[in-house]
Amino acid sequence: MKLPETQLALLEATGATDRTPVEPLAEELGEDPAAITRAAFELEAAGLVDVEERAVEDVALTEEGERYREAGLPELRLRAAAAEAGADDSPAEMGRLVGQSGLEGPEVDIALSNLARKGYGEIDGGAIALGEDPRYDPEADPEAAALESVAAGEADAVATDVLDRLESRGLIERTETTARSVTLTDEGVTALMEGVEAAETVGAVTPELLTSGEWSEVEFTEYNVEADAETVNGGKTHILRQTANRVKDVLVGMGFREMEGPHADADFWINDCLFMPQDHPARTHWDRFALDVPPMAELPADLLERVEDAHRNGVGSEGDGYHSPWDADFARAVALRGHTTSLSMRYLSGQAAGDLEPPERYFSVEKVYRNDTLDPTHLLEFFQIEGWVMAEELSVRDLMGTFTEFYEQFGITDLEFKPHYNPYTEPSFELFGRHPETDELIEIGNSGIFREEVLSPLGVECDVMAWGLALERLLMLMYGFEDIRDVHGTLCDLDLLRNVEVVY
Ligand code: PHE
Repeated sequence: MKLPETQLALLEATGATDRTPVEPLAEELGEDPAAITRAAFELEAAGLVDVEERAVEDVALTEEGERYREAGLPELRLRAAAAEAGADDSPAEMGRLVGQSGLEGPEVDIALSNLARKGYGEIDGGAIALGEDPRYDPEADPEAAALESVAAGEADAVATDVLDRLESRGLIERTETTARSVTLTDEGVTALMEGVEAAETVGAVTPELLTSGEWSEVEFTEYNVEADAETVNGGKTHILRQTANRVKDVLVGMGFREMEGPHADADFWINDCLFMPQDHPARTHWDRFALDVPPMAELPADLLERVEDAHRNGVGSEGDGYHSPWDADFARAVALRGHTTSLSMRYLSGQAAGDLEPPERYFSVEKVYRNDTLDPTHLLEFFQIEGWVMAEELSVRDLMGTFTEFYEQFGITDLEFKPHYNPYTEPSFELFGRHPETDELIEIGNSGIFREEVLSPLGVECDVMAWGLALERLLMLMYGFEDIRDVHGTLCDLDLLRNVEVVY
């Protein structure tokens, strides 16, 4: 029998009784483990060896885990400082203990929450008292011991719940790999006894083989298309981007044109044009990402004047203003846009694309930024599907019909509308859709018909209906994921991003 060299070497190194793991074999033979694995599968296909596969978990300390292994877990350091300060008699002031234990930044919160969890201490009114009934002896803290075991490569000896805890604390990383080992089959033993020779096989054509003409004599290695190969994950367009493109196609198909404009804009375009009073809570520094840049000088003077007049005096004979302060400097201040309705204002005012005559339809699918509290449905940024229709006579029916038509394209047919309040639209509606997995109604957008107080200063004399929809929420309804962080940011679900298909 003739076998390619690597296969022959592997066959000869494989035992008939003991399973030999591939990794040390590769080392012994001075070959790449991948090449030995490939050879093992080829020998298996020829019936000469058995390949056994086993999933193994590799556990390693993260950088933070390593740091705590050296310096001690934050809660233990805090506990030690408390013990030293005599906190078993009377509670010790927290700031002092933190200083003494040398804890810094996020370590302080980590120390406090784990101190409480393990019963090492009780925190009350800025003071720490040693816990009466700690869950563990601080000298024998199982998590601290586990860090040592993991570092010593003895994670097997650590209880699973402790490993789970360390993993959720981000102190260890577990990775699954496949370990393979080989044994000779009876056929393999027989073949070796009968004698196997090395076949000169060639894995790839080289320029030398071609010029020397040798290529016509040599034997080429056969491809094994069934061999287990490493999965290669190529680059791919993110599903948010894919869905954004699909949304754009749908809206273009419905006769809309795309708006463009700045992410950082004057408050004038983001809020004042929308008849948002300058003392509206959404305009305070809590919600808004103010930028430390010079105010926007170039605002159209006549528009600025008309907007100020609407705020101060209202619009029309019945109109009434806000009776609240209005300051042009405030309007010029620059912030990250909290909605893309700033673009709608730029277009409706004629600033962006010149004067517009009804009927007109415009949209954008762009990022907006809000200083929200992070949770499964809120991030500091998201994509907003902004849109508006300008026409002589528009009613709520037109708005509902447009949404029904739009969402149908994505398979969403059970929209619900709820009356709402916006300072800039009347009437206003929030849109809801049902989550396919949790069956909860989730808010997917906000809409309405612009008020006279918005349109009149812009110089628009007909009706305009408008909306802002969340692209991420549309995706949730389409794909059923429950946490926006699955598709955005560093915690995203890579499997989802790799495997989900956006269907046109
Ligand atoms: N700007 C609103 C929001 O971000 C959406 C909206 C746009 C509502 C236009 C009505 C009209 O929620």
